[in-house]
Amino acid sequence: MSNQQESNIAISFYNIHNIITRGLRVSLESVQGVLQRGFQGEEGREGFFNFIRALTSVMNAHHLTEDEIVFPYFRDKLPEAPFDSLTYYHHVMVLILDEINLAVNKCSNKDQLETELRNIENDLARLNEDWPFHIQPETDEFINKADALVPVEEQLRLVRLFAEHDLKNAIPLYLTIPFMLYNLPQDDRMVFSQGMPAEVIQNLVPVVWKEKWESMKPFLLA
Ligand SMILES: [Fe+2]
Ligand SMILES: [Fe+2]
Repeated sequence: MSNQQESNIAISFYNIHNIITRGLRVSLESVQGVLQRGFQGEEGREGFFNFIRALTSVMNAHHLTEDEIVFPYFRDKLPEAPFDSLTYYHHVMVLILDEINLAVNKCSNKDQLETELRNIENDLARLNEDWPFHIQPETDEFINKADALVPVEEQLRLVRLFAEHDLKNAIPLYLTIPFMLYNLPQDDRMVFSQGMPAEVIQNLVPVVWKEKWESMKPFLLA
């Protein structure tokens, strides 16, 4: 069983892409729900905004990890892969993510709330539409090729390096780590957890940070 649970480059990318895919879908459905029915109490409001903050931070961190260490690592090994166009599209997505964060900040102003929620809805709709077309070439052009190119031990080292780089930029960690863990089904979550320090999984997420992230629970998987 322990072998099956070990991560490799392909598994780590499937997981982070699945986290973002679900995060984008749930965020869009949630903003549409809020526009129709309003917030489900103060806790619902806090959870909604925390979930979106976590999503934008995790996406930004993922793009940075790819641009700064993943693509440079694979560039020589896969000279035909479209790294430049993938990086270009990261920049496009970062602009949209910045717009979302700006709109979220303006939502504290009651008079602007509905307009800003509509802006968030439009931005999320666009990201949801574009995202599959961004991760498909990543999957085809380097993720699915990694196993043939990189020895198992080296893959484990890289997976840890990528995870560390993600965590440097995915702030605040008390939101982004629970967001990543609980946007994955349990089996995948177990594998994903192995890339994190035991203290984070056993103490910080379930105890120390709990009050800060538990408002997101209605949007997360059990
Ligand atoms: Fe990417
Ligand atoms: Fe990616």
